[in-house]
Amino acid sequence: MRTLLIAGNWKMNAGPTEAKELAESMVAAREGKDDSQDLLICPPFISIPAVAEAFSGSNFKVGAQNVSTEDNGAYTGEISTSMLKDAGCEYVIVGHSERREYYHEDDSLVAEKALKVLKDGLKVIVCVGEKLEERKSGNHEKVVKNQVEAVIKQVDKSNADNFVIAYEPVWAIGTGETATPEQAQEMHAFIRGLLSEVWGDDEAEKIRILYGGSMKPGNADELLSQKDVDGGLIGGASLKADSFSGIIDIAESI
Ligand code: PGA
Repeated sequence: MRTLLIAGNWKMNAGPTEAKELAESMVAAREGKDDSQDLLICPPFISIPAVAEAFSGSNFKVGAQNVSTEDNGAYTGEISTSMLKDAGCEYVIVGHSERREYYHEDDSLVAEKALKVLKDGLKVIVCVGEKLEERKSGNHEKVVKNQVEAVIKQVDKSNADNFVIAYEPVWAIGTGETATPEQAQEMHAFIRGLLSEVWGDDEAEKIRILYGGSMKPGNADELLSQKDVDGGLIGGASLKADSFSGIIDIAESI
Protein backbone atom coordinates (compact mmCIF):
# COMPACT_ATOMS: atom_id res chain seq x y z
CA MET A 1 0.00 0.00 0.00
CA ARG A 2 1.39 3.38 -0.98
CA THR A 3 1.50 6.10 1.66
CA LEU A 4 -0.83 8.87 0.52
CA LEU A 5 0.60 12.32 -0.13
CA ILE A 6 -1.69 15.23 0.73
CA ALA A 7 -0.09 18.28 -0.84
CA GLY A 8 -1.23 21.90 -0.77
CA ASN A 9 -0.31 24.26 -3.61
CA TRP A 10 -0.79 27.80 -2.35
CA LYS A 11 0.01 29.27 -5.77
CA MET A 12 0.55 33.07 -5.59
CA ASN A 13 -1.15 33.42 -2.22
CA ALA A 14 0.17 34.18 1.27
CA GLY A 15 3.26 36.32 1.74
CA PRO A 16 5.54 35.52 4.70
CA THR A 17 3.31 37.00 7.42
CA GLU A 18 0.09 35.37 6.27
CA ALA A 19 1.91 32.14 5.37
CA LYS A 20 3.36 31.82 8.86
CA GLU A 21 -0.09 32.23 10.44
CA LEU A 22 -1.69 29.78 8.02
CA ALA A 23 1.08 27.21 8.55
CA GLU A 24 0.77 27.56 12.32
CA SER A 25 -2.98 27.08 12.13
CA MET A 26 -2.45 23.90 10.10
CA VAL A 27 -0.06 22.50 12.69
CA ALA A 28 -2.57 23.41 15.41
CA ALA A 29 -5.37 21.68 13.47
CA ARG A 30 -3.35 18.42 13.41
CA GLU A 31 -2.29 18.51 17.05
CA GLY A 32 -2.67 15.15 18.77
CA LYS A 33 -3.72 13.44 15.51
CA ASP A 34 -0.66 11.20 14.98
CA ASP A 35 -0.80 11.42 11.17
CA SER A 36 0.69 8.59 9.17
CA GLN A 37 0.22 9.90 5.61
CA ASP A 38 2.68 12.37 4.04
CA LEU A 39 1.69 16.04 4.36
CA LEU A 40 3.14 18.81 2.24
CA ILE A 41 2.61 22.51 1.63
CA CYS A 42 4.11 24.39 -1.34
CA PRO A 43 3.99 28.13 -0.57
CA PRO A 44 5.32 30.92 -2.79
CA PHE A 45 9.15 31.02 -2.80
CA ILE A 46 9.32 34.04 -0.52
CA SER A 47 7.21 32.37 2.15
CA ILE A 48 9.11 29.07 2.22
CA PRO A 49 11.41 29.94 5.18
CA ALA A 50 8.50 31.19 7.31
CA VAL A 51 6.49 28.04 6.59
CA ALA A 52 9.49 25.75 7.16
CA GLU A 53 9.98 27.35 10.56
CA ALA A 54 6.31 27.03 11.49
CA PHE A 55 6.40 23.35 10.46
CA SER A 56 9.55 22.40 12.35
CA GLY A 57 8.84 19.48 14.66
CA SER A 58 5.52 18.74 12.88
CA ASN A 59 4.60 16.14 10.25
CA PHE A 60 4.30 18.75 7.51
CA LYS A 61 6.97 19.08 4.81
CA VAL A 62 7.63 22.09 2.62
CA GLY A 63 7.96 22.22 -1.15
CA ALA A 64 8.31 24.74 -3.97
CA GLN A 65 6.02 25.40 -6.92
CA ASN A 66 8.76 25.80 -9.52
CA VAL A 67 12.56 25.81 -9.91
CA SER A 68 15.33 26.88 -12.26
CA THR A 69 17.25 24.38 -14.38
CA GLU A 70 20.48 26.29 -13.61
CA ASP A 71 22.77 25.97 -10.58
CA ASN A 72 23.31 29.67 -9.84
CA GLY A 73 24.58 32.86 -11.50
CA ALA A 74 23.15 35.46 -13.86
CA TYR A 75 19.54 34.26 -14.18
CA THR A 76 17.48 37.19 -12.92
CA GLY A 77 14.35 36.19 -11.08
CA GLU A 78 15.18 32.49 -10.83
CA ILE A 79 15.53 30.21 -7.78
CA SER A 80 17.85 27.17 -7.74
CA THR A 81 17.54 23.72 -6.21
CA SER A 82 20.37 24.48 -3.75
CA MET A 83 18.48 27.56 -2.51
CA LEU A 84 15.34 25.48 -2.03
CA LYS A 85 17.23 22.84 -0.07
CA ASP A 86 18.86 25.52 2.05
CA ALA A 87 15.39 26.93 2.83
CA GLY A 88 14.11 23.50 3.97
CA CYS A 89 12.29 22.20 0.89
CA GLU A 90 11.98 18.48 0.15
CA TYR A 91 9.70 18.58 -2.88
CA VAL A 92 9.35 20.65 -6.05
CA ILE A 93 6.28 20.83 -8.28
CA VAL A 94 7.12 21.04 -11.99
CA GLY A 95 4.92 21.46 -15.04
CA HIS A 96 1.83 22.80 -13.31
CA SER A 97 -0.76 23.64 -15.98
CA GLU A 98 -0.59 27.33 -15.00
CA ARG A 99 3.14 27.33 -15.77
CA ARG A 100 2.55 25.49 -19.03
CA GLU A 101 -0.24 27.90 -20.02
CA TYR A 102 0.97 31.32 -18.79
CA TYR A 103 4.75 30.85 -18.85
CA HIS A 104 4.94 28.65 -21.94
CA GLU A 105 6.71 25.76 -20.26
CA ASP A 106 6.74 22.85 -22.67
CA ASP A 107 7.30 19.13 -22.14
CA SER A 108 11.03 19.36 -22.74
CA LEU A 109 11.51 22.13 -20.16
CA VAL A 110 9.33 20.23 -17.67
CA ALA A 111 11.51 17.14 -18.22
CA GLU A 112 14.67 19.21 -17.77
CA LYS A 113 13.35 20.63 -14.49
CA ALA A 114 12.32 17.20 -13.23
CA LEU A 115 15.80 15.82 -13.99
CA LYS A 116 17.46 18.74 -12.23
CA VAL A 117 15.31 18.34 -9.12
CA LEU A 118 16.05 14.61 -8.87
CA LYS A 119 19.76 14.97 -9.62
CA ASP A 120 20.04 17.47 -6.77
CA GLY A 121 18.37 15.20 -4.25
CA LEU A 122 14.87 16.63 -4.03
CA LYS A 123 11.58 14.89 -4.74
CA VAL A 124 9.62 15.96 -7.80
CA ILE A 125 5.88 16.25 -8.42
CA VAL A 126 5.31 16.30 -12.17
CA CYS A 127 1.92 17.72 -13.16
CA VAL A 128 0.07 16.48 -16.22
CA GLY A 129 -3.49 16.87 -17.44
CA GLU A 130 -5.65 17.59 -20.45
CA LYS A 131 -7.68 20.68 -21.32
CA LEU A 132 -11.46 20.61 -21.69
CA GLU A 133 -11.42 20.55 -25.49
CA GLU A 134 -8.92 17.70 -25.43
CA ARG A 135 -11.23 15.65 -23.22
CA LYS A 136 -14.27 16.54 -25.30
CA SER A 137 -12.53 15.43 -28.47
CA GLY A 138 -11.47 12.16 -26.85
CA ASN A 139 -7.76 13.02 -26.92
CA HIS A 140 -7.21 13.12 -23.15
CA GLU A 141 -5.22 9.90 -22.95
CA LYS A 142 -3.02 10.86 -25.88
CA VAL A 143 -2.24 14.28 -24.35
CA VAL A 144 -1.43 12.83 -20.93
CA LYS A 145 0.65 10.02 -22.49
CA ASN A 146 2.82 12.58 -24.29
CA GLN A 147 3.26 14.65 -21.13
CA VAL A 148 4.14 11.64 -18.96
CA GLU A 149 6.46 9.98 -21.47
CA ALA A 150 8.32 13.22 -22.16
CA VAL A 151 9.54 13.00 -18.57
CA ILE A 152 9.77 9.31 -17.71
CA LYS A 153 11.73 8.42 -20.83
CA GLN A 154 14.46 10.80 -19.60
CA VAL A 155 14.48 9.76 -15.94
CA ASP A 156 16.14 6.60 -14.67
CA LYS A 157 13.84 4.22 -12.83
CA SER A 158 16.16 4.32 -9.82
CA ASN A 159 14.44 7.66 -9.05
CA ALA A 160 11.06 6.00 -8.50
CA ASP A 161 11.07 6.65 -4.73
CA ASN A 162 11.46 10.38 -5.32
CA PHE A 163 9.03 10.65 -8.19
CA VAL A 164 5.39 11.72 -7.90
CA ILE A 165 2.91 12.44 -10.68
CA ALA A 166 -0.10 14.73 -10.25
CA TYR A 167 -2.95 14.23 -12.68
CA GLU A 168 -4.78 17.53 -12.86
CA PRO A 169 -7.39 17.85 -15.58
CA VAL A 170 -7.11 21.54 -16.50
CA TRP A 171 -10.91 21.87 -16.68
CA ALA A 172 -11.15 20.92 -13.00
CA ILE A 173 -8.54 23.33 -11.62
CA GLY A 174 -10.04 26.17 -9.62
CA THR A 175 -13.38 25.71 -11.38
CA GLY A 176 -15.32 23.82 -8.72
CA GLU A 177 -15.69 21.10 -11.36
CA THR A 178 -14.14 17.78 -10.32
CA ALA A 179 -13.34 14.69 -12.33
CA THR A 180 -15.65 11.90 -11.29
CA PRO A 181 -13.95 9.19 -9.22
CA GLU A 182 -14.31 6.90 -12.26
CA GLN A 183 -12.64 9.43 -14.58
CA ALA A 184 -9.82 9.91 -12.07
CA GLN A 185 -9.30 6.18 -11.52
CA GLU A 186 -9.35 5.49 -15.26
CA MET A 187 -6.65 8.09 -15.96
CA HIS A 188 -4.53 7.13 -12.94
CA ALA A 189 -4.57 3.47 -14.00
CA PHE A 190 -3.62 4.57 -17.53
CA ILE A 191 -0.68 6.59 -16.15
CA ARG A 192 0.45 3.66 -14.02
CA GLY A 193 0.36 1.52 -17.15
CA LEU A 194 2.66 4.02 -18.91
CA LEU A 195 5.05 3.93 -15.94
CA SER A 196 5.03 0.18 -16.01
CA GLU A 197 5.85 0.05 -19.73
CA VAL A 198 8.89 2.29 -19.30
CA TRP A 199 10.11 1.44 -15.76
CA GLY A 200 8.55 -1.97 -15.13
CA ASP A 201 5.79 -3.13 -12.76
CA ASP A 202 7.76 -2.94 -9.50
CA GLU A 203 8.67 0.72 -9.96
CA ALA A 204 5.24 1.63 -11.34
CA GLU A 205 3.62 0.20 -8.21
CA LYS A 206 5.75 2.47 -6.01
CA ILE A 207 4.91 5.75 -7.73
CA ARG A 208 2.33 7.97 -6.13
CA ILE A 209 -0.16 9.47 -8.55
CA LEU A 210 -2.01 12.41 -7.01
CA TYR A 211 -5.31 13.83 -8.20
CA GLY A 212 -5.65 17.61 -8.46
CA GLY A 213 -8.59 19.80 -9.42
CA SER A 214 -11.12 21.19 -6.95
CA MET A 215 -10.47 18.53 -4.31
CA LYS A 216 -12.16 19.47 -1.05
CA PRO A 217 -13.45 17.71 2.09
CA GLY A 218 -16.79 17.03 0.36
CA ASN A 219 -15.30 15.02 -2.52
CA ALA A 220 -11.95 13.81 -1.16
CA ASP A 221 -13.32 10.54 0.17
CA GLU A 222 -14.59 9.17 -3.15
CA LEU A 223 -11.46 10.34 -4.99
CA LEU A 224 -8.89 9.12 -2.46
CA SER A 225 -10.67 5.76 -2.15
CA GLN A 226 -9.82 4.91 -5.75
CA LYS A 227 -7.20 2.22 -6.12
CA ASP A 228 -4.72 4.29 -8.12
CA VAL A 229 -5.33 7.67 -6.48
CA ASP A 230 -2.49 8.10 -4.01
CA GLY A 231 -3.21 11.55 -2.65
CA GLY A 232 -4.15 15.04 -3.74
CA LEU A 233 -2.58 18.22 -5.03
CA ILE A 234 -4.90 20.77 -3.54
CA GLY A 235 -5.12 24.46 -4.44
CA GLY A 236 -8.07 26.44 -3.08
CA ALA A 237 -8.89 24.07 -0.21
CA SER A 238 -5.29 24.22 1.04
CA LEU A 239 -5.63 27.92 1.84
CA LYS A 240 -7.79 27.23 4.89
CA ALA A 241 -6.55 25.12 7.78
CA ASP A 242 -9.96 23.56 8.45
CA SER A 243 -10.58 22.40 4.87
CA PHE A 244 -7.02 21.10 4.38
CA SER A 245 -7.18 19.37 7.74
CA GLY A 246 -10.56 17.91 6.75
CA ILE A 247 -8.98 16.33 3.68
CA ILE A 248 -6.12 14.98 5.82
CA ASP A 249 -8.70 13.41 8.19
CA ILE A 250 -10.25 11.62 5.22
CA ALA A 251 -6.85 10.44 3.96
CA GLU A 252 -6.01 9.12 7.40
CA SER A 253 -9.28 7.18 7.52
CA ILE A 254 -8.75 5.34 4.21
P1 PGA B 1 -7.60 23.65 -7.07
O1 PGA B 1 -6.10 23.67 -7.65
O2 PGA B 1 -7.64 22.65 -5.96
O3 PGA B 1 -7.84 25.05 -6.59
O4 PGA B 1 -8.49 23.26 -8.21
C1 PGA B 1 -5.36 22.49 -7.80
C2 PGA B 1 -4.01 22.80 -8.43
O5 PGA B 1 -3.97 23.63 -9.35
O6 PGA B 1 -2.98 22.24 -8.03
